[in-house]
Amino acid sequence: MNLAITPLHPLFAAEIGGIDAGRTLDAPAVGALTEAINRYAVLVLRDQRLNDDQQIAFASNFGRPEINIGVYRSADQRRLERPEMADVSNVNARDEVHRREDQRRMFNLGNMLWHTDSSFRYPPGALSMLYAHAVPSSGGETEFADLRAAHDALDAATRALIADLRAEHSIMHSRATLGFTEFSETERAALPPVVHRVVRRHPGSGRATLYLASHASHIIGWPVPEGRLLLRDLIEFATRREFVFVHRWRAGDLVIWDNRCTLHRGRPFPAEERRDLRRVTTSDTAAALEQAA
Ligand code: OGA
Ligand code: MN
Repeated sequence: MNLAITPLHPLFAAEIGGIDAGRTLDAPAVGALTEAINRYAVLVLRDQRLNDDQQIAFASNFGRPEINIGVYRSADQRRLERPEMADVSNVNARDEVHRREDQRRMFNLGNMLWHTDSSFRYPPGALSMLYAHAVPSSGGETEFADLRAAHDALDAATRALIADLRAEHSIMHSRATLGFTEFSETERAALPPVVHRVVRRHPGSGRATLYLASHASHIIGWPVPEGRLLLRDLIEFATRREFVFVHRWRAGDLVIWDNRCTLHRGRPFPAEERRDLRRVTTSDTAAALEQAA
């Protein structure tokens, strides 16, 4: 099947036409989309109409949807019924915008740090699919960085230095860097730190890629400050503007990205306006994880 593909950036990201993500996809369509994800890493599908069940069904074509960590919150803090849905919105179950100091708002502000989804879990996230029900009148963009291109652009000495390094990732770490530490005992017990290679082979494209995130706290076997500085330097390099694609949301957009070879972050928007985005993320498979580049 031939997709209508319009590249959105010189290195990665493309708009895909002609797909209704709310309908059952046949095998050629799934195959063509998979090929496009492997090549472009970020796909934008406009003018979709999806409820939560349809969004989960669409994601299931590409892997096993993970259970979102929102299930570790108390029931009164949850808005969406299906445990696969990540609530990336700023509204509660009564559709009221969160108060400024609401815990859920504090937690979601962490999405504004450069990260990759669920790198703090094992297995980590593979593909994320974020759908926009409502967007603010300005701001609230999502930025993506191409970690394969960034890896290729590193100088040879840095590539050699990092080739076999491993980093520890934890959701508590990324939130702590913003001063948010209010995790329950349930959350702490359910989300222990995990370790991942810093450089891996991206299974879909066969290319070497960095694997970085705000969740990465230090390099295994290195003094903590030294490893933390290296991770910061790498993220700073990988998010130089030439590696970054900016998505400006419209309601009805479905954006798919490959967490194994990209970073992303949300951008600020007027806090009193509704922004209702919902995400499903598939789990990586262990076999793809450990491959050195
Ligand atoms: C996410 C995320 C950023 C945004 O859904 O995983 O990081 O712009 N979102 O809301
Ligand atoms: Mn994210």
